[in-house]
Amino acid sequence: MMKTVILLTLLLIAQTASANIAGTGKIYLPLIANNTTASASYVLLGWNDLGMHCYNRDFKDLAVLPPYNTLWVQVVRRGDPPQIVTQGINVSYSFPANTFSVGKSNFWDYDQLLFGVDLAPNVGLTGKGLAGDMDRKSDHFLAEGIPLTEYDDSDWNNRQPFQLAEIVARDSNGVELARNTVVAPVSTEMRCDKCHADGMRDGIATGRVETNILTLHDREESGDYPAGHTTPLMQRRPVLCAECHSSNALGKPGVTGLPSLSNAMHTRHAEVIPNTTDGCYSCHPGPSTQCLRDVMSQQHGMQCVDCHGSMQQVAQSTNPWLKEPRCDNCHKDAKYAQNNALYRFSTGHGGLYCESCHDSTHAIAPSSQPRDAVKFINLQGHSGTLDTCTVCHLTHPTSGGPHQ
Ligand code: HEC
Ligand code: HEC
Ligand code: HEC
Ligand code: HEC
Ligand code: HEC
Ligand code: HEC
Ligand code: HEC
Repeated sequence: MMKTVILLTLLLIAQTASANIAGTGKIYLPLIANNTTASASYVLLGWNDLGMHCYNRDFKDLAVLPPYNTLWVQVVRRGDPPQIVTQGINVSYSFPANTFSVGKSNFWDYDQLLFGVDLAPNVGLTGKGLAGDMDRKSDHFLAEGIPLTEYDDSDWNNRQPFQLAEIVARDSNGVELARNTVVAPVSTEMRCDKCHADGMRDGIATGRVETNILTLHDREESGDYPAGHTTPLMQRRPVLCAECHSSNALGKPGVTGLPSLSNAMHTRHAEVIPNTTDGCYSCHPGPSTQCLRDVMSQQHGMQCVDCHGSMQQVAQSTNPWLKEPRCDNCHKDAKYAQNNALYRFSTGHGGLYCESCHDSTHAIAPSSQPRDAVKFINLQGHSGTLDTCTVCHLTHPTSGGPHQ
């Protein structure tokens, strides 16, 4: 198994090592094909905004989250000094091994009932498909809400939660300037079945985990359902939890007076879930996915609760999704300060996003997942934080640096 992963990774590196490795002299150089040279003048930095996107395996009965991945890109023109460019170029993305989602997910059978929109096949809630152009923003390119599943075209039975996007920047004449291969992490691994399978709660046994949960919810809460939402959940499937429980992940306000979905879920389960990474993996992906793969968990033994606190503390968040741990809570030296409340929106060195050099939350380089390393190897010949000055600077600067 391990051997397959390594082979696959090498193959991918060979296929995608698109230059940008100037000055590293690493062995990948001779493998590089066409379109790039050691003096490539553009580099493409790309990442997924979150460390993992979770969506429901089946939307027939209920939905916590839809398929919805978001990719970011910054393109840098190499030079002295380097320059972040957005004008005069176009950036497109695709998933060569994962070109469609209909059939791998039944989301498109329930989009109208859950979200009130009838989406074209393989198109997501913001209009993005599995391939297309990214949108130009002030200092980056963005593809928000890609309806990605965790299944390769060649295998609908085994999850591959670390899907690979191929991202290409071209000039206005369509000439390729730079490309890279970037992980879009996605998983359906919510283990509600561990405790909500038939017969486990209140003698409820409907034959499906989802309907067991809805039945339990109706027993506990049906008398409290707010005006306009009083039909028992079992009688109006599929149910979007965020219809009543606000979710900032979906931008849904919920019903005033009811707890947010994060608050409801973490409060209700606080007594039954141990405050360990395995405990959090009961609902977050998960024992098999291992979404927490960053250097701090792998090399310094950190667990979810070291950064997020206990179930009870997560439950008390006044602004779920938007109020999160900060790097500078712990890395207190001013040179590591965030300039936004959220890590994913913070920038450092020359206007580069922290995630462009360190990667996504929960994947802070070096990650334990070999696919996360591909883009860094493409850029600088080795894995780990983007730390090679000459990836962007033509001449090695004699002073300064990302945190000087
Ligand atoms: C470690 C066990 C465990 C896991 C895993 C788990 N639950 Fe629960 N859940 C419980 C227990 C225990 C209760 C309380 C049941 C009772 O009072 O009989 C509960 C209650 C609930 C309720 C009822 C809320 C109410 O009071 O109306 C909902 C809804 C629910 N769970 C949803 C989920 C979902 C969705 C998942 C997966 C994302 C999940 N649970 C995972 C153990 C678990
Ligand atoms: C029709 C509105 C409605 C929908 C839809 C709904 N809920 Fe609830 N939920 C409620 C109400 C009302 C309560 C009781 C709130 C209270 O007591 O403060 C509740 C309570 C809960 C609780 C217990 C909270 C606690 O603090 O004990 C959990 C967990 C929960 N809901 C999860 C879910 C999940 C998961 C979904 C989607 C499958 C869902 N709810 C969909 C209305 C709804
Ligand atoms: C019983 C299931 C369950 C367990 C166990 C669980 N979560 Fe969650 N968590 C959820 C759900 C469902 C959401 C999504 C809520 C939404 O869509 O707004 C969520 C969202 C979150 C969020 C983002 C929203 C926010 O509040 O900022 C964080 C952070 C989080 N969980 C951390 C944890 C940590 C840390 C643990 C372990 C200590 C944990 N969770 C255990 C179900 C669970
Ligand atoms: C709860 C505290 C805490 C938070 C939050 C935290 N870190 Fe760390 N981090 C540590 C500790 C402890 C270490 C290991 C010892 C050290 O290097 O200080 C570490 C190590 C690191 C390392 C170096 C690892 C190595 O071995 O070279 C990097 C890079 C890093 N953190 C980046 C980040 C980033 C980026 C964030 C925000 C997304 C972050 N950290 C958030 C506590 C934290
Ligand atoms: C080293 C610290 C650290 C550890 C360990 C950690 N997280 Fe996080 N987590 C963060 C930070 C920082 C953010 C906020 C990122 C941002 O501001 O964009 C975050 C955000 C989240 C979110 C919101 C979605 C997102 O990606 O922004 C969820 C859900 C979450 N964490 C769950 C977990 C779970 C579950 C675990 C354990 C399996 C875990 N975290 C372990 C630091 C950590
Ligand atoms: C141009 C690439 C780049 C950018 C952008 C960048 N960093 Fe770094 N970061 C590095 C490198 C390289 C190191 C290791 C050398 C060092 O500490 O200076 C590092 C080290 C760190 C560490 C130290 C971890 C430890 O204990 O060893 C933290 C924390 C950190 N960065 C946070 C951030 C945050 C937060 C941002 C955004 C505000 C950010 N970085 C932006 C390249 C970058
Ligand atoms: C991912 C691309 C990238 C990497 C890697 C990078 N830089 Fe930069 N650097 C930039 C950008 C962009 C600027 C902003 C240039 C401007 O607008 O003035 C910059 C500016 C600078 C500046 C100030 C302007 C100048 O060129 O004199 C110094 C000094 C510098 N970087 C040093 C370093 C050092 C040292 C390293 C390696 C430890 C490094 N940089 C790695 C992109 C990068």
